[in-house]
Amino acid sequence: MLAPQISMRERMAMYNSNALKIGLFGSNCSSGRAVTRVPERWSGTWPDNLRLARMADEVGIDFLLPIARWKGYGGDTDYQGATLETLTWASGLLASTNRITVFGTVHAPLFNPIIAAKEFVTADHIGEGRFGLNLVVGWNEDEFDMFGVQQREHDERYEYAEEWADVVKLAWSDREDFDFAGRYFKLKGIRAKPKPFGGTRPLMMNAGASDIGRSFALRNCDAFFTNTPNRERAEVEAKVRAIKAEAEKYGREIDVYTVGVVTCRPTMADAQAYYRHCVVDQADWSAVDLILAKKNITVHNHSPEDFQKRRNGYAQGMGGFPIVGDPDEVANQLAELSRAGLRGIGISFVNYADELPYFCDEVLPRLKRMGVRA
Ligand SMILES: Cc1cc2nc3c(=O)[nH]c(=O)nc-3n(C[C@H](O)[C@H](O)[C@H](O)COP(=O)(O)O)c2cc1C
Repeated sequence: MLAPQISMRERMAMYNSNALKIGLFGSNCSSGRAVTRVPERWSGTWPDNLRLARMADEVGIDFLLPIARWKGYGGDTDYQGATLETLTWASGLLASTNRITVFGTVHAPLFNPIIAAKEFVTADHIGEGRFGLNLVVGWNEDEFDMFGVQQREHDERYEYAEEWADVVKLAWSDREDFDFAGRYFKLKGIRAKPKPFGGTRPLMMNAGASDIGRSFALRNCDAFFTNTPNRERAEVEAKVRAIKAEAEKYGREIDVYTVGVVTCRPTMADAQAYYRHCVVDQADWSAVDLILAKKNITVHNHSPEDFQKRRNGYAQGMGGFPIVGDPDEVANQLAELSRAGLRGIGISFVNYADELPYFCDEVLPRLKRMGVRA
């Protein structure tokens, strides 16, 4: 029997016609993305991840995006202290679901590219073409110390990642028994079989925030995750347009995604009260300060107002903007992002599995009526 052929376009569309793709971001980590002490915060355990993935698969969520985090941040809750490794996590979930795309997130400097290429292919076969790769270069140096790996200077990380990605793509290609002689890798007699599922390669994404990170993503990936400055449609639209125009200069088409943190409750007042309870009154401020210190954001190099703004921002979800409201409000905000040209959004909840059913029952049908979901 001939193996089914799938196109890159089908992979980028995640095999459906939803204009706005919605994914869950960060569920492989304890606490997810909310830096909070509330007892119902996300466990990040395998049984909870499996339950969540099956539910998401069933209700039509488009993708799951994990965070590659090797060392927790500490604080009262040891924020993201327990994390499931993303490729094994993705493989288990792909084997347990039918239609959802599942990403693995990989730090290029920590993985041999030939081993990684085979791990990606294996996951892709398990999921029959539903595996995606989030390629990251890493920013957290004490995490790298744990591996005895010296982090390169910022821009060189992306040069290395580009060569790493070239090796992976060649291993995925039809070439056989070839050598690779680059600046970082000298590899001989590469033979890598099988190839990815369906005759195309897995969807690749990156979320570089710097100029060099963005240009790496636009040249090498299919999806680019970016923080949107705020919710003003004109500003988001301008940002998406600029990113797509830059990609065109490299002869590439790219989908632009963003990240959000959703608190959806029956009334605006309920949503705002819960949001405040979790990420202000019950925020794990000791963890927030440890995160900020790792990013070198201190009162000494930021104005008091700016520092406080960042502190509040990190508590609610390590960046990404809050979408807080009743189902109409949440649906309106998501639809606006779609109209501004964004292809999708990775969202998180304080407790993904408890909050997803309400979101799917109330928000997804509204998005369908608004024409941004099929
Ligand atoms: C959606 C998203 C997912 C990310 N996932 C990870 C991750 O899992 N691990 C990691 O070390 N960094 C992750 N990052 C950080 C980025 O890869 C990148 O290093 C960061 O945005 C800084 O950009 P720069 O490398 O261009 O300076 C993520 C960022 C975003 C917005």
